[in-house]
Amino acid sequence: MARDLGNKVHRLLQALLEHMDRKEAERLVEGLRLAVKYRDPALIYHAASQLSHDYYGGRLSYRLPQGYEAYHKRYGGAETRLPPPLETSGVDSFWAIRNRRSRREYTGEPVRKVELATILFYSVGVTGRAWWGGPKRSYPSAGALQPVEAYVVANNIEGIAQGIYYYNAFNHSLVEIRRGDFSEDLYRAALDQEHVLEASFNLVLTAVYPRTASKYGHRSYRYVHWDVGFAGENVYIAVEALGLATTAVGAFYDEDICRLLGIDCVIEIPMLIFPVGRRATVD
Ligand SMILES: Cc1cc2nc3c(=O)[nH]c(=O)nc-3n(C[C@H](O)[C@H](O)[C@H](O)COP(=O)(O)O)c2cc1C
Repeated sequence: MARDLGNKVHRLLQALLEHMDRKEAERLVEGLRLAVKYRDPALIYHAASQLSHDYYGGRLSYRLPQGYEAYHKRYGGAETRLPPPLETSGVDSFWAIRNRRSRREYTGEPVRKVELATILFYSVGVTGRAWWGGPKRSYPSAGALQPVEAYVVANNIEGIAQGIYYYNAFNHSLVEIRRGDFSEDLYRAALDQEHVLEASFNLVLTAVYPRTASKYGHRSYRYVHWDVGFAGENVYIAVEALGLATTAVGAFYDEDICRLLGIDCVIEIPMLIFPVGRRATVD
């Protein structure tokens, strides 16, 4: 079936091999062997990104494009300061971890601005400084390179117009990217999952791949997922502590999410969506 693509694949692999040293190339070949054996192309990456005693992952030469800083993005849009996050929820952290659940039913009542601010801060916020002056975050990050970005698709938040916003963690503010109701578009992009449509807002986490790739080479695609996983658990815990409801959503059409957010799906990759709303059922 794919015979007509064979020549193209051959040329592309040849070009890739030209940029690789012997060890990297051997990894690629091993990955291809596994991919053929198990009929799973993901195994190419799996093999290419493993560390061993004589292999630390090939160097990559990505550059951060315009609009990307080392630790955040730069937008020209109107910026709105968020209220400071709550200092405490009155809920014990052990309790919040034990009671956390994926909750998909929301009352439709609005979420307050301070609740949004609290979730953002405890999920991906800047919480301190490292000895070299760089920021520290609420989530741990491989090499402290902090690839995770957060966007809010606001639907029903008190005091915030419907639209798509970028969370600037450095001054704890929202930067407007697009005004309007995008909940239907997001719902379609998330394979028609009702909870995405019914949420007061959706928090979309992405990863800026070159931040991590600048140091960790081929292994970075693993690292950025781990970083986002840590931030994602923070979302669950913060939402639970506030008595709200959320669920991680990983099933979505990547290109549709990228189009909505205005990102390219290569340098910056969509990772998870968290619909957030008032909890419909008490359990
Ligand atoms: C990476 C990831 C992707 C997920 N994607 C979806 C999703 O697309 N839709 C959904 O309703 N739940 C999704 N979930 C939630 C899981 O279904 C849920 O965590 C699992 O059923 C366990 O339930 P619990 O979170 O209440 O413990 C996802 C969870 C993870 C960790």
